[in-house]
Amino acid sequence: MEISILQVISGICVLAGRFTSEPGTIRKHVIMRKTVGAEPVKPKYQWIPSAIDARIRVIAWLSLVTEVVIIGTGGAVRLTGSGLGCPTWPTCVAGSLVPTSEMGIHGVIEFGNRLMSGVVGIVAVLAVVLLWRLRRERKDLFTLSIILVVGVLAQALVGGVTVLTGLNPFIVGFHFMASLIMVCISAVLVHRVYVAPGPRVRVVPVAFAGLAHATSFVVALTVLMGVVTTASGPHSGDAAAGRTGFNAELLEHLHAWPGYATLVLTIVLLGASVRGKLPIRFFVLTLFLIELVQIVVGLLQANLGLPPVLVGVHMVLASILAAAMTVVVLNLKAPSRSSADVAQMAMNATGRN
Ligand code: HEM
Repeated sequence: MEISILQVISGICVLAGRFTSEPGTIRKHVIMRKTVGAEPVKPKYQWIPSAIDARIRVIAWLSLVTEVVIIGTGGAVRLTGSGLGCPTWPTCVAGSLVPTSEMGIHGVIEFGNRLMSGVVGIVAVLAVVLLWRLRRERKDLFTLSIILVVGVLAQALVGGVTVLTGLNPFIVGFHFMASLIMVCISAVLVHRVYVAPGPRVRVVPVAFAGLAHATSFVVALTVLMGVVTTASGPHSGDAAAGRTGFNAELLEHLHAWPGYATLVLTIVLLGASVRGKLPIRFFVLTLFLIELVQIVVGLLQANLGLPPVLVGVHMVLASILAAAMTVVVLNLKAPSRSSADVAQMAMNATGRN
């Protein structure tokens, strides 16, 4: 059975969400709400939300944005040849946490990326804090926020290993793939702060769902081949860094073909969703437009000798595309009860209507 990386990621996150999707969960949900409602909350913690509000939605979006931005800053490190601008880790240079003046602009760029991981970490911790009082009712959201915190810590370690191995191309590639997974997890968080918890049902024809999953598999394959192409190409991050030794020109084609297949599959999805007036059509259209731009940028960079700016744009677009694909897959299903129903049931159970 073919399973794409995106499907695996979505699967992990959906499984996390299943805590509130089991039959009879609404009852559990209601009981939990009672418990939370009954829990005495110290006045100094009362600012922490007890229901999904604008602050939680903003932090979910911030998480997605910062995860994408750090892909851009990480790309800037590699594409400016600053990969070893800070030659050690966790300090920048022996005896100094921050870059010294001798390390020049490369030290500043590399250190800037390290600072950016701090920003991503702060956003992830804030998400955990804001979801704290909902940790039982919205176990799915809380679990996702914990995964994001653990992910930032793990990524900081992988970043350290990247530096300490002198920018081994396979580790650099792994670091980038892990960053994309973090983007996808943030996309799940954003999606889930807008939908009601509880059981989910398929809202598209079964063939459409199958095709969407197949498309996500091809997107994951395209990304993987792109990463291997990069690892074999000229932008290593430092003149002394090694390359895979694979044939970059051949890989470029092996990467581009599934890229075109992705576009064809998405056009079929778009046609079917517009004809069937499926609610998912807006997300499919977004995915299609991102893919179109991504392919144009890919072709331009390949034909213009890989200018760093275009390679950087291609990297960032790949992360936005992965997020869009994740959202399409998530929208194949919808909660069988609306938020209003769930809130009403909770109010009934606590006698607050
Ligand atoms: C849906 C379509 C596409 C997606 C999702 C995609 C994604 C990616 C990704 C994730 C990378 C690796 C970035 C990195 O590790 O820094 C990459 C690299 C690359 N892509 Fe694409 N790509 C697509 C289409 C194309 C097309 C049509 C071309 C045209 C030939 C292309 C040319 C390249 C090249 C040349 C590289 C290597 C750049 C380097 O050596 O630094 N891509 N792509």
